[in-house]
Amino acid sequence: MSLSRRGSHAPLWRMARATRSRWRLLALSVLLGAGAVLAGVGLLAVSGYLISRAAQRPEILSLGVAIAAVRSLAIARAALRYGERLASHDLAFRTLADLRRRLFARLVPLVPGGLPGVGRADVLSRFVGDVDRLQDLYLRALGPVAVGLLSAAATLLIAFALLPAAAAALAVGLLVAGLVTPLLTRAAARAAGRRQAAARAALTAAIVEVTGGAAEIALAGRERDWIERADRASARLARIQRRDALSGGLATGLATAATGLTAVGVALVAVPAVRGGALAGVLLAAVLLLTLGAFETVRPLPSAGASIDACGAAARRIEDILDRPAPVVDPEQPARPPSAGDLEARGLRFRYDDAGPWLLAGVDMRLAPGKAIALAGPSGCGKSTLAELLVRFRDPVAGAVLLGGIDLRDLPQEELRDAVLLGSQDAYLFDGTIRENLALAKPDASQAELERAARRVGLGPWLAALPDGLDTAVGEQGAQVSGGQRRRIAAARLLLSPARFLIADEPAAHLDPPAAAALHAELAREARAGRGVLLIAHEPYGLERFDEVLELREGRLKARG
Ligand SMILES: Nc1ncnc2c1ncn2[C@@H]1O[C@H](COP(=O)(O)OP(=O)(O)O)[C@@H](O)[C@H]1O
Ligand SMILES: [Mg+2]
Repeated sequence: MSLSRRGSHAPLWRMARATRSRWRLLALSVLLGAGAVLAGVGLLAVSGYLISRAAQRPEILSLGVAIAAVRSLAIARAALRYGERLASHDLAFRTLADLRRRLFARLVPLVPGGLPGVGRADVLSRFVGDVDRLQDLYLRALGPVAVGLLSAAATLLIAFALLPAAAAALAVGLLVAGLVTPLLTRAAARAAGRRQAAARAALTAAIVEVTGGAAEIALAGRERDWIERADRASARLARIQRRDALSGGLATGLATAATGLTAVGVALVAVPAVRGGALAGVLLAAVLLLTLGAFETVRPLPSAGASIDACGAAARRIEDILDRPAPVVDPEQPARPPSAGDLEARGLRFRYDDAGPWLLAGVDMRLAPGKAIALAGPSGCGKSTLAELLVRFRDPVAGAVLLGGIDLRDLPQEELRDAVLLGSQDAYLFDGTIRENLALAKPDASQAELERAARRVGLGPWLAALPDGLDTAVGEQGAQVSGGQRRRIAAARLLLSPARFLIADEPAAHLDPPAAAALHAELAREARAGRGVLLIAHEPYGLERFDEVLELREGRLKARG
């Protein structure tokens, strides 16, 4: 990733634009937020006026309006803040739900063949962590900025109406506290992060070497040298941290200084204005308190800047997934799916690495309905890859896979998935019951059908021993069932499915030879029902019933004796 890209917030703005459809909610929450801040500022200013006026001991009745204003501003501030919280969280969660939906829709066509260069854990962390982080995009980043700008502008207008010169001084102060300080804080934090990361890495390395190589160091009698080395790294980190805390503190102090200096500046123009008659004396305190209150409008801006950075990084990682081209795409003009015919590979060539040797160097194969073919071959020779090409999880580099004479690339993926089903070698189970995991292949399967399929793959005795039978939970990712049971469940799914062609990738990998032979034979028997069965077998047990036994070697299929 280039440096310029790392600094760019373009993905963030694209994410933010997705909020457009909810602009009413957005406007409402900004207005409520600005209203709450302004009510607070107004409360201070009106209180200032009230105290000054009261000091003149006027008729109590003449204070009535100001007293009522103080009361209602206090109540309004709380009510508006509450409304703003409701609206902004509503907006944030709705936007988040939109984003999840969009991301999921993009992710589904990408995942069958996997995302090159992105591990499953990484996809999960982007999908969960980074999307969640974007919840702050409105709540802590864009919202506070919009509210701050709006309420600062309104405060300046009020100040301008009271005394234009005071408004000018206030504008300068707000600029320093609201713009210069956040930028300085951010620059200081970034530089500090970089410096500290290097020093921390040096300290970690020193400690790891001291502990890892303790025996060798002791044998060589060099303990003192090594401990001193770790001490030096630690002291260096502490020195850097102290200096960075100082510069960070200075930036924050600058905002406070700006507040105080602005108040002094406003007093310097307001007092002469009172003397000259441009400002009523009773308003002097109001102008000064308005000035102090005005800084509340820009107070959240430094942390909003930090949130914008964090959201930007999350948005980039998410866009990185959204931008990946799908490994397979549906045709513009799909052919009519064939209702009969063979599944056929013609001259298939494939390699993962553009420059490497061919993994599949011209594979020809024909699977007819009613036939059973077994495919063997050493681990890593490309059997699973061939299976994935046959169901178009990826496309071949050359050659073609045909269903009923039609290139898979000309068929809508949905039709293809209905016709050809792959039981992959991972045998993934969803966190649910055995029943739910089986019914995935046939949602309307009856109890009898489910039980029969389970019996055929050898799950009968196990299910009978379970108190809850088919309704037993398999746990997250099938953690509560053994590897062999998991594969048997996946094989039962194949038998239950209505697909015309079944491909089973090493369904018996964790089974002992007699169990593997029985499962293989059961799959071969399924061909008699008129379906085409391709079995990828880790061990050649129970292959007698297969019409053909092939071997994948050096990228080509050969008949096996
Ligand atoms: N997604 C992938 N990206 C890159 N290389 C892969 C990928 N999947 C498999 N391979 C490599 O391709 C070769 C064949 O893998 P595979 O088809 O799983 O073989 P088999 O199923 O016969 O054991 C192996 O060397 C494997 O490391
Ligand atoms: Mg494999």
